Amino acid sequence: MYDFDEIIDRRGTNALNTDGFRQYIFHAGPEKEFPYKDEEFVRMWVADMEFGVAPEILQAIRRRVDRRIFGYTAVYDDEYFNAFRRWCLEHYGWEIRREELCFSPGIIPALYQLAETLCAPGDRILLHTPAYGYFLHAAEYSGLEVLPSPLKKGADGRFSVDLDDFEQKCADPRCTLLFFCNPHNPTGRIWTEKELEDVAAIVEKHGLWIVSDEIHCDLVRCGNRHTPMAMVMKDYPKLVTCMAPTKTFNLAGLAFSNILIRDPDLRSTFRARDKQFGMVNPLSLTAATAAYASGQPWLSALKAYLDGNFRFVKARLAAELPEAAMEISEATYLAWVDLSRCLPGMEDLSGFFANEAGVLLEGGNALFVGNAEGYIRLNLAMPRSVISAGLDRMVAAIRRHNGQ
Ligand SMILES: Cc1ncc(COP(=O)(O)O)c(C=O)c1O
Repeated sequence: MYDFDEIIDRRGTNALNTDGFRQYIFHAGPEKEFPYKDEEFVRMWVADMEFGVAPEILQAIRRRVDRRIFGYTAVYDDEYFNAFRRWCLEHYGWEIRREELCFSPGIIPALYQLAETLCAPGDRILLHTPAYGYFLHAAEYSGLEVLPSPLKKGADGRFSVDLDDFEQKCADPRCTLLFFCNPHNPTGRIWTEKELEDVAAIVEKHGLWIVSDEIHCDLVRCGNRHTPMAMVMKDYPKLVTCMAPTKTFNLAGLAFSNILIRDPDLRSTFRARDKQFGMVNPLSLTAATAAYASGQPWLSALKAYLDGNFRFVKARLAAELPEAAMEISEATYLAWVDLSRCLPGMEDLSGFFANEAGVLLEGGNALFVGNAEGYIRLNLAMPRSVISAGLDRMVAAIRRHNGQ
Protein backbone atom coordinates (compact mmCIF):
# COMPACT_ATOMS: atom_id res chain seq x y z
CA MET A 1 0.00 0.00 0.00
CA TYR A 2 2.87 2.39 0.78
CA ASP A 3 5.93 2.30 -1.46
CA PHE A 4 9.17 2.71 0.47
CA ASP A 5 11.26 1.44 -2.45
CA GLU A 6 10.46 4.43 -4.64
CA ILE A 7 13.39 6.75 -5.35
CA ILE A 8 12.20 10.35 -5.15
CA ASP A 9 14.17 13.15 -6.79
CA ARG A 10 14.88 15.89 -4.23
CA ARG A 11 17.00 18.08 -6.48
CA GLY A 12 15.89 21.69 -6.76
CA THR A 13 13.97 21.65 -3.47
CA ASN A 14 16.61 23.50 -1.40
CA ALA A 15 16.91 20.44 0.81
CA LEU A 16 19.61 20.54 3.49
CA ASN A 17 20.15 16.87 2.67
CA THR A 18 21.08 17.48 -0.98
CA ASP A 19 22.39 21.04 -0.98
CA GLY A 20 23.54 21.78 2.57
CA PHE A 21 26.12 19.09 3.22
CA ARG A 22 29.21 21.21 2.43
CA GLN A 23 28.32 23.71 5.10
CA TYR A 24 26.96 21.28 7.71
CA ILE A 25 29.45 18.43 7.50
CA PHE A 26 32.54 20.15 6.13
CA HIS A 27 32.07 23.79 7.25
CA ALA A 28 32.82 24.75 3.65
CA GLY A 29 31.22 26.65 0.81
CA PRO A 30 30.53 25.87 -2.83
CA GLU A 31 34.25 26.05 -3.58
CA LYS A 32 34.81 22.68 -1.90
CA GLU A 33 35.16 20.02 -4.56
CA PHE A 34 34.86 16.26 -4.38
CA PRO A 35 35.68 13.52 -6.89
CA TYR A 36 31.89 13.01 -7.10
CA LYS A 37 29.26 15.35 -8.51
CA ASP A 38 26.65 16.41 -5.97
CA GLU A 39 23.98 14.24 -7.56
CA GLU A 40 26.27 11.19 -7.53
CA PHE A 41 26.57 11.01 -3.75
CA VAL A 42 24.73 8.38 -1.76
CA ARG A 43 23.40 10.51 1.08
CA MET A 44 23.23 8.75 4.46
CA TRP A 45 23.71 11.77 6.69
CA VAL A 46 21.21 14.28 8.13
CA ALA A 47 18.23 12.76 9.94
CA ASP A 48 15.44 13.15 7.47
CA MET A 49 13.99 10.45 5.27
CA GLU A 50 14.06 9.74 1.53
CA PHE A 51 10.46 8.46 1.76
CA GLY A 52 7.41 10.33 0.56
CA VAL A 53 5.15 11.71 3.26
CA ALA A 54 2.09 9.60 4.17
CA PRO A 55 -0.72 10.12 1.63
CA GLU A 56 -3.11 10.78 4.53
CA ILE A 57 -1.02 13.83 5.49
CA LEU A 58 -0.57 15.01 1.90
CA GLN A 59 -4.32 14.86 1.41
CA ALA A 60 -4.93 16.99 4.50
CA ILE A 61 -2.38 19.55 3.29
CA ARG A 62 -4.01 19.64 -0.15
CA ARG A 63 -7.42 20.19 1.42
CA ARG A 64 -5.98 23.04 3.47
CA VAL A 65 -4.33 24.55 0.36
CA ASP A 66 -7.75 24.57 -1.26
CA ARG A 67 -8.98 26.88 1.48
CA ARG A 68 -6.65 29.39 -0.26
CA ILE A 69 -5.93 31.78 2.61
CA PHE A 70 -2.84 31.40 4.80
CA GLY A 71 -3.31 34.23 7.24
CA TYR A 72 -1.89 34.42 10.77
CA THR A 73 -2.59 31.14 12.49
CA ALA A 74 -2.24 29.80 16.04
CA VAL A 75 -3.57 26.72 17.82
CA TYR A 76 -6.98 27.94 18.99
CA ASP A 77 -9.34 24.99 18.73
CA ASP A 78 -9.08 21.49 20.25
CA GLU A 79 -8.38 19.45 17.15
CA TYR A 80 -4.60 19.37 17.39
CA PHE A 81 -4.54 18.88 21.15
CA ASN A 82 -7.03 16.03 20.96
CA ALA A 83 -5.02 14.25 18.24
CA PHE A 84 -1.71 14.61 20.11
CA ARG A 85 -3.30 13.69 23.45
CA ARG A 86 -4.77 10.50 21.99
CA TRP A 87 -1.42 9.65 20.38
CA CYS A 88 0.43 9.94 23.68
CA LEU A 89 -2.19 7.90 25.52
CA GLU A 90 -2.24 5.12 22.93
CA HIS A 91 1.51 4.92 22.40
CA TYR A 92 2.94 5.60 25.84
CA GLY A 93 -0.02 5.47 28.23
CA TRP A 94 0.79 9.10 28.99
CA GLU A 95 -1.95 11.64 29.70
CA ILE A 96 -0.52 15.00 28.70
CA ARG A 97 -1.76 18.17 30.35
CA ARG A 98 -3.11 20.81 28.06
CA GLU A 99 -1.77 23.76 30.01
CA GLU A 100 1.80 22.42 29.66
CA LEU A 101 1.77 22.30 25.88
CA CYS A 102 3.84 24.98 24.17
CA PHE A 103 4.93 25.12 20.55
CA SER A 104 8.21 25.79 18.85
CA PRO A 105 9.25 25.76 15.21
CA GLY A 106 11.65 23.03 16.24
CA ILE A 107 13.30 21.28 19.11
CA ILE A 108 16.58 22.95 18.13
CA PRO A 109 15.19 26.46 18.69
CA ALA A 110 13.59 25.23 21.92
CA LEU A 111 16.95 23.90 23.15
CA TYR A 112 18.55 27.27 22.39
CA GLN A 113 15.77 29.12 24.18
CA LEU A 114 15.75 26.83 27.21
CA ALA A 115 19.52 26.95 27.63
CA GLU A 116 19.40 30.73 27.53
CA THR A 117 16.50 30.97 29.99
CA LEU A 118 17.50 28.27 32.48
CA CYS A 119 21.23 28.95 32.76
CA ALA A 120 23.17 31.88 34.11
CA PRO A 121 26.67 32.78 32.91
CA GLY A 122 29.13 30.19 34.20
CA ASP A 123 26.54 27.40 34.41
CA ARG A 124 27.20 24.10 32.72
CA ILE A 125 24.93 21.83 30.70
CA LEU A 126 25.32 18.11 31.19
CA LEU A 127 24.93 15.71 28.30
CA HIS A 128 25.72 12.10 27.52
CA THR A 129 28.31 11.52 24.82
CA PRO A 130 28.27 10.68 22.01
CA ALA A 131 25.66 13.42 21.64
CA TYR A 132 23.49 15.12 19.10
CA GLY A 133 25.57 18.11 17.93
CA TYR A 134 22.90 20.72 18.63
CA PHE A 135 23.03 19.95 22.36
CA LEU A 136 26.52 21.45 22.24
CA HIS A 137 25.58 24.25 19.85
CA ALA A 138 22.65 25.31 22.06
CA ALA A 139 25.02 25.60 25.02
CA GLU A 140 27.62 27.50 22.99
CA TYR A 141 24.99 29.91 21.70
CA SER A 142 24.50 31.11 25.28
CA GLY A 143 28.21 31.05 26.06
CA LEU A 144 27.81 28.00 28.32
CA GLU A 145 30.13 25.07 28.81
CA VAL A 146 29.00 21.50 28.41
CA LEU A 147 29.80 18.79 30.88
CA PRO A 148 30.07 15.51 28.98
CA SER A 149 29.26 12.22 30.70
CA PRO A 150 30.44 9.46 28.36
CA LEU A 151 28.13 6.50 27.86
CA LYS A 152 29.68 3.11 28.59
CA LYS A 153 29.73 0.32 26.06
CA GLY A 154 29.09 -3.16 27.45
CA ALA A 155 30.57 -6.42 26.18
CA ASP A 156 27.25 -6.98 24.40
CA GLY A 157 27.78 -3.74 22.41
CA ARG A 158 24.99 -1.95 24.29
CA PHE A 159 25.55 1.57 25.53
CA SER A 160 24.46 2.60 29.01
CA VAL A 161 24.68 5.58 31.31
CA ASP A 162 27.73 5.46 33.58
CA LEU A 163 25.80 6.26 36.74
CA ASP A 164 28.88 6.97 38.87
CA ASP A 165 30.27 9.45 36.37
CA PHE A 166 26.82 10.91 35.81
CA GLU A 167 26.21 11.47 39.52
CA GLN A 168 29.62 13.06 39.91
CA LYS A 169 28.87 15.49 37.06
CA CYS A 170 25.39 16.26 38.45
CA ALA A 171 27.04 17.17 41.76
CA ASP A 172 29.11 19.89 40.06
CA PRO A 173 27.69 23.06 41.61
CA ARG A 174 27.88 24.82 38.24
CA CYS A 175 25.80 22.13 36.55
CA THR A 176 22.18 23.31 36.32
CA LEU A 177 20.68 21.56 33.32
CA LEU A 178 20.68 18.12 31.71
CA PHE A 179 19.96 17.70 28.02
CA PHE A 180 18.70 14.13 28.00
CA CYS A 181 18.06 12.23 24.78
CA ASN A 182 15.56 9.36 24.80
CA PRO A 183 15.62 7.41 22.55
CA HIS A 184 19.25 8.29 22.21
CA ASN A 185 20.73 9.79 19.07
CA PRO A 186 23.18 8.47 17.87
CA THR A 187 23.39 5.12 19.75
CA GLY A 188 19.73 4.21 19.19
CA ARG A 189 19.16 3.14 22.79
CA ILE A 190 15.69 3.28 24.31
CA TRP A 191 16.42 3.74 27.98
CA THR A 192 14.56 1.15 30.06
CA GLU A 193 12.29 2.18 32.90
CA LYS A 194 14.96 1.10 35.39
CA GLU A 195 17.58 3.22 33.61
CA LEU A 196 15.20 6.17 33.53
CA GLU A 197 14.48 5.75 37.23
CA ASP A 198 18.19 5.73 38.03
CA VAL A 199 18.81 8.89 35.99
CA ALA A 200 15.69 10.55 37.45
CA ALA A 201 16.73 9.81 41.04
CA ILE A 202 20.12 11.46 40.53
CA VAL A 203 18.65 14.47 38.73
CA GLU A 204 16.08 14.97 41.49
CA LYS A 205 18.66 14.56 44.23
CA HIS A 206 20.72 17.39 42.74
CA GLY A 207 17.72 19.51 41.74
CA LEU A 208 18.75 19.90 38.09
CA TRP A 209 16.53 21.06 35.29
CA ILE A 210 16.04 18.31 32.73
CA VAL A 211 15.09 18.74 29.09
CA SER A 212 14.08 15.31 27.79
CA ASP A 213 14.40 15.35 24.01
CA GLU A 214 12.14 12.54 22.84
CA ILE A 215 11.95 13.44 19.15
CA HIS A 216 12.81 9.87 18.08
CA CYS A 217 10.20 8.25 20.36
CA ASP A 218 7.87 6.95 17.64
CA LEU A 219 10.59 5.41 15.52
CA VAL A 220 11.18 2.33 17.64
CA ARG A 221 11.88 -1.13 16.27
CA CYS A 222 8.69 -3.18 16.07
CA GLY A 223 7.87 -4.64 19.46
CA ASN A 224 9.83 -2.00 21.41
CA ARG A 225 8.15 0.60 23.58
CA HIS A 226 9.19 4.11 24.55
CA THR A 227 8.67 5.42 28.06
CA PRO A 228 8.48 9.21 28.36
CA MET A 229 10.57 10.60 31.20
CA ALA A 230 7.36 12.33 32.31
CA MET A 231 5.95 8.90 33.24
CA VAL A 232 8.91 8.27 35.52
CA MET A 233 9.36 11.77 36.96
CA LYS A 234 5.65 12.01 37.62
CA ASP A 235 5.62 15.26 39.56
CA TYR A 236 9.11 16.70 39.19
CA PRO A 237 8.49 20.35 38.30
CA LYS A 238 11.81 20.95 36.56
CA LEU A 239 11.14 18.59 33.64
CA VAL A 240 10.60 19.75 30.06
CA THR A 241 9.60 17.17 27.41
CA CYS A 242 10.20 17.72 23.69
CA MET A 243 8.30 15.66 21.09
CA ALA A 244 7.42 16.27 17.48
CA PRO A 245 5.63 14.71 14.53
CA THR A 246 8.41 15.99 12.26
CA LYS A 247 11.00 13.22 12.68
CA THR A 248 8.35 10.48 12.75
CA PHE A 249 6.53 11.61 9.63
CA ASN A 250 9.31 13.30 7.63
CA LEU A 251 7.98 16.82 8.11
CA ALA A 252 11.11 18.51 9.45
CA GLY A 253 10.90 21.41 7.00
CA LEU A 254 7.40 22.18 8.24
CA ALA A 255 8.92 23.14 11.57
CA PHE A 256 6.39 22.27 14.28
CA SER A 257 7.17 20.71 17.64
CA ASN A 258 5.64 20.16 21.06
CA ILE A 259 7.40 21.47 24.15
CA LEU A 260 5.69 20.36 27.37
CA ILE A 261 6.72 22.57 30.26
CA ARG A 262 5.57 21.81 33.79
CA ASP A 263 6.86 24.85 35.63
CA PRO A 264 4.35 27.71 35.14
CA ASP A 265 7.01 30.43 35.36
CA LEU A 266 9.25 28.76 32.80
CA ARG A 267 6.20 28.25 30.61
CA SER A 268 5.30 31.90 30.61
CA THR A 269 8.91 32.93 29.98
CA PHE A 270 9.14 30.42 27.13
CA ARG A 271 5.98 31.81 25.56
CA ALA A 272 7.00 35.41 26.17
CA ARG A 273 10.31 34.88 24.39
CA ASP A 274 8.65 33.19 21.41
CA LYS A 275 9.60 35.41 18.48
CA GLN A 276 6.51 34.17 16.61
CA PHE A 277 4.23 35.24 19.50
CA GLY A 278 2.29 31.98 19.32
CA MET A 279 1.73 31.95 15.59
CA VAL A 280 2.29 28.75 13.64
CA ASN A 281 2.47 27.89 9.96
CA PRO A 282 -1.05 26.85 8.92
CA LEU A 283 0.21 24.04 6.67
CA SER A 284 2.40 22.74 9.48
CA LEU A 285 -0.50 22.67 11.90
CA THR A 286 -2.64 20.82 9.37
CA ALA A 287 0.13 18.31 8.69
CA ALA A 288 0.88 17.73 12.36
CA THR A 289 -2.79 17.20 13.18
CA ALA A 290 -3.24 14.76 10.29
CA ALA A 291 -0.06 12.92 11.29
CA TYR A 292 -1.25 12.21 14.81
CA ALA A 293 -4.87 11.65 13.79
CA SER A 294 -4.36 9.38 10.79
CA GLY A 295 -0.66 8.58 10.34
CA GLN A 296 -0.58 5.28 12.23
CA PRO A 297 -1.03 2.85 9.31
CA TRP A 298 1.81 4.54 7.38
CA LEU A 299 4.02 4.58 10.50
CA SER A 300 3.43 0.85 11.11
CA ALA A 301 4.46 0.09 7.52
CA LEU A 302 7.47 2.41 7.78
CA LYS A 303 8.66 0.71 10.97
CA ALA A 304 8.49 -2.72 9.37
CA TYR A 305 10.52 -1.43 6.39
CA LEU A 306 13.11 0.18 8.67
CA ASP A 307 13.45 -3.05 10.65
CA GLY A 308 14.21 -4.76 7.35
CA ASN A 309 16.83 -2.12 6.51
CA PHE A 310 18.59 -2.68 9.82
CA ARG A 311 18.62 -6.47 9.32
CA PHE A 312 19.91 -5.96 5.80
CA VAL A 313 22.80 -3.69 6.86
CA LYS A 314 23.75 -5.90 9.79
CA ALA A 315 23.88 -8.96 7.57
CA ARG A 316 25.85 -7.19 4.84
CA LEU A 317 28.41 -5.85 7.31
CA ALA A 318 28.78 -9.24 8.99
CA ALA A 319 29.44 -10.86 5.61
CA GLU A 320 31.58 -8.20 3.94
CA LEU A 321 33.13 -6.15 6.71
CA PRO A 322 33.29 -8.41 9.76
CA GLU A 323 35.53 -6.00 11.62
CA ALA A 324 32.77 -3.39 11.68
CA ALA A 325 30.67 -3.58 14.84
CA MET A 326 27.01 -2.68 14.73
CA GLU A 327 24.06 -3.47 16.97
CA ILE A 328 20.58 -3.01 15.59
CA SER A 329 19.38 0.29 17.10
CA GLU A 330 16.41 -0.11 19.45
CA ALA A 331 14.96 3.09 18.02
CA THR A 332 15.66 5.78 15.39
CA TYR A 333 16.53 5.10 11.75
CA LEU A 334 20.18 5.72 12.50
CA ALA A 335 22.79 2.96 12.73
CA TRP A 336 25.81 3.64 14.95
CA VAL A 337 28.67 1.66 13.50
CA ASP A 338 32.11 1.19 15.03
CA LEU A 339 34.70 1.22 12.24
CA SER A 340 37.73 1.61 14.49
CA ARG A 341 39.04 -1.82 13.51
CA CYS A 342 38.47 -1.21 9.79
CA LEU A 343 39.97 2.27 9.63
CA PRO A 344 42.22 2.55 12.69
CA GLY A 345 43.21 6.11 13.57
CA MET A 346 41.00 7.66 10.87
CA GLU A 347 39.80 10.97 12.30
CA ASP A 348 37.98 12.51 9.39
CA LEU A 349 35.57 9.70 8.65
CA SER A 350 33.09 11.97 6.84
CA GLY A 351 35.90 13.27 4.59
CA PHE A 352 37.13 9.76 3.88
CA PHE A 353 33.75 8.42 2.79
CA ALA A 354 32.82 11.55 0.80
CA ASN A 355 36.08 11.50 -1.14
CA GLU A 356 36.80 7.79 -1.40
CA ALA A 357 33.30 6.32 -1.62
CA GLY A 358 30.94 9.12 -2.66
CA VAL A 359 28.90 8.53 0.48
CA LEU A 360 27.80 11.38 2.71
CA LEU A 361 27.66 10.42 6.37
CA GLU A 362 28.41 11.87 9.79
CA GLY A 363 30.89 10.41 12.21
CA GLY A 364 33.50 10.98 14.87
CA ASN A 365 33.89 13.52 17.65
CA ALA A 366 33.64 16.58 15.42
CA LEU A 367 29.98 15.83 14.77
CA PHE A 368 28.97 13.97 17.95
CA VAL A 369 30.66 16.04 20.68
CA GLY A 370 32.88 13.26 22.11
CA ASN A 371 33.20 9.53 22.86
CA ALA A 372 32.64 8.91 19.14
CA GLU A 373 36.12 8.06 17.84
CA GLY A 374 35.95 5.58 15.01
CA TYR A 375 32.13 5.63 14.78
CA ILE A 376 29.95 6.56 11.87
CA ARG A 377 26.23 7.19 11.87
CA LEU A 378 24.32 5.81 8.92
CA ASN A 379 20.87 7.08 8.07
CA LEU A 380 18.86 4.04 6.97
CA ALA A 381 15.59 5.84 6.14
CA MET A 382 15.84 5.31 2.42
CA PRO A 383 15.05 2.67 -0.19
CA ARG A 384 17.04 -0.52 0.42
CA SER A 385 18.51 -0.32 -3.07
CA VAL A 386 20.14 3.01 -2.19
CA ILE A 387 21.53 1.61 1.05
CA SER A 388 22.88 -1.35 -0.86
CA ALA A 389 24.68 0.94 -3.34
CA GLY A 390 26.12 2.97 -0.45
CA LEU A 391 27.40 -0.15 1.29
CA ASP A 392 28.99 -1.44 -1.92
CA ARG A 393 30.96 1.78 -2.22
CA MET A 394 31.90 1.95 1.45
CA VAL A 395 33.16 -1.62 1.55
CA ALA A 396 35.17 -1.10 -1.64
CA ALA A 397 36.72 2.13 -0.30
CA ILE A 398 37.73 0.50 2.98
CA ARG A 399 39.27 -2.46 1.15
CA ARG A 400 41.18 -0.15 -1.19
CA HIS A 401 42.41 1.89 1.75
CA ASN A 402 43.65 -1.24 3.50
CA GLY A 403 45.32 -2.52 0.31
CA GLN A 404 42.98 -5.52 0.07
C1 LIG B 1 17.89 14.37 19.29
C2 LIG B 1 17.38 15.38 18.30
N1 LIG B 1 16.81 16.50 18.73
C3 LIG B 1 16.34 17.43 17.87
C4 LIG B 1 16.44 17.27 16.50
C5 LIG B 1 15.94 18.31 15.57
O1 LIG B 1 14.72 18.82 15.99
P1 LIG B 1 13.91 19.88 15.16
O2 LIG B 1 13.94 19.49 13.73
O3 LIG B 1 12.54 19.82 15.77
O4 LIG B 1 14.55 21.21 15.42
C6 LIG B 1 17.04 16.09 16.01
C7 LIG B 1 17.20 15.89 14.56
O5 LIG B 1 17.92 15.06 14.11
C8 LIG B 1 17.52 15.13 16.93
O6 LIG B 1 18.10 14.00 16.51
